[in-house]
Amino acid sequence: MPVTAAAVIPSSSLDLFDDEVLRDPYEAHSTLREMGPAVYLHRHGVWALTRYEDVKAALKDTDTFSSVDGVALTDQANQRILAGTVLASDGMAHARLRRPLSHQLNPRAIQKLAGWIEEHAEKLVTAHVRAGRFDAVALARKLVADVVMELMGLPESTRDQLIEAAEHTFNCFGPDNPRHRHSAPAAAGVIEFLHTEVTRKTVRPGTWMDALYQAADAGRITEADVVPLMSAYVAAGMDTTIFAISTAMLLLARHPQQWRNLRAGSVSAQAVFHETLRLESPVQGFGRRVTRATRIGNTKIKAGEQVWLLYGAANRDPRKWGPSADEFSPARPDAEDQLALGAGPHLCAGNHLAALETRSLLTALTRHCTRLEVDGHPQPMLNNTLRGYTSIPLRATPCHPQTPTPHPPAPAA
Ligand code: HEM
Repeated sequence: MPVTAAAVIPSSSLDLFDDEVLRDPYEAHSTLREMGPAVYLHRHGVWALTRYEDVKAALKDTDTFSSVDGVALTDQANQRILAGTVLASDGMAHARLRRPLSHQLNPRAIQKLAGWIEEHAEKLVTAHVRAGRFDAVALARKLVADVVMELMGLPESTRDQLIEAAEHTFNCFGPDNPRHRHSAPAAAGVIEFLHTEVTRKTVRPGTWMDALYQAADAGRITEADVVPLMSAYVAAGMDTTIFAISTAMLLLARHPQQWRNLRAGSVSAQAVFHETLRLESPVQGFGRRVTRATRIGNTKIKAGEQVWLLYGAANRDPRKWGPSADEFSPARPDAEDQLALGAGPHLCAGNHLAALETRSLLTALTRHCTRLEVDGHPQPMLNNTLRGYTSIPLRATPCHPQTPTPHPPAPAA
């Protein structure tokens, strides 16, 4: 009878949320990917999934990989902060919470916003490029916050807290580390603050808040769902999109040929959006709770255990993206297969809006400047779940006032 060696469980003592790993996670991701399809992370008590096909399959199989009690790494966040939210529910409960704003966020509804968002992006870019030097994060933040505040229909008094809320909320998805402990009270405080500032009296007709209260009036959600739902959409739509847009600008400044390709129209702003998300996924990972015994490759995972789906690692898996996985190449034909927006029933509800905001800003930039350069040191923001920068100083060379957008190709800068 053949003797078979006991299966070795791939495991690691890596702290995925250590400052150094957060600053540059890609070597750690590569090590985990090569160790096996599922690697047990002792420090966090979770299985890391890093390969593209496994992450995608888990995102789509919500019967086995549940968002209930599983999106964050701590019981405190899963049970006190996330329980009953759109992100942390499945099946009928999830559909009930996702439906009230699905009409507002579908591609046709978002297309109708194009004129307004493009015009606003044009105005902001004109002002920033005229100044010559500007901060890409500040520019992106202004556009994204204006859009979200206007569409949701929120009082101006909530703007600053809402902008800060995203950072704190996303820290709470991680382990019980100092970043989490610092952010947990702030994240809870924002919800309390919103309950006092956002009421039926502040609602403007035609806004997302109006749609949420109408859903409550029709009994499709409860009155108590309204503010947490609003807060979830705002937190999900702020830093994620700010980081996507500002990182796209940084990558274009670092890759002058890609910038010229974008100006010349040989790659589209939509392609730059997807390739930026692939290479520098603004949400690096989320968890799931395993509901029944399953296998990832040869590795058995028991019911009740948790997996951590590393979108950032899957999006650089050479099995999917080949030897250029770590390169910024917006012309790659399959960039839009990236998983930075999730997949399956929890696919990002705001993905069409995020794409429109990014396209509008990048297109306005190509109209207004011939050259983009990094002008100092970008400052990374260290967050348990998000990847992006607090500041990206750029220098722009404005177009001559009479120079039109270059179609055909722009001369080399
Ligand atoms: C480039 C920008 C964005 C990125 C990278 C991003 C990323 C993601 C990811 C990865 C998920 C999936 C979560 C999961 O699998 O559990 C998600 C869900 C979600 N996103 Fe986004 N997001 C972006 C922009 C937005 C915007 C602009 C909004 C709304 C204004 C938004 C609202 C949501 C909501 C409500 C969910 C939960 C969906 C559900 O659980 O059914 N996101 N997002």
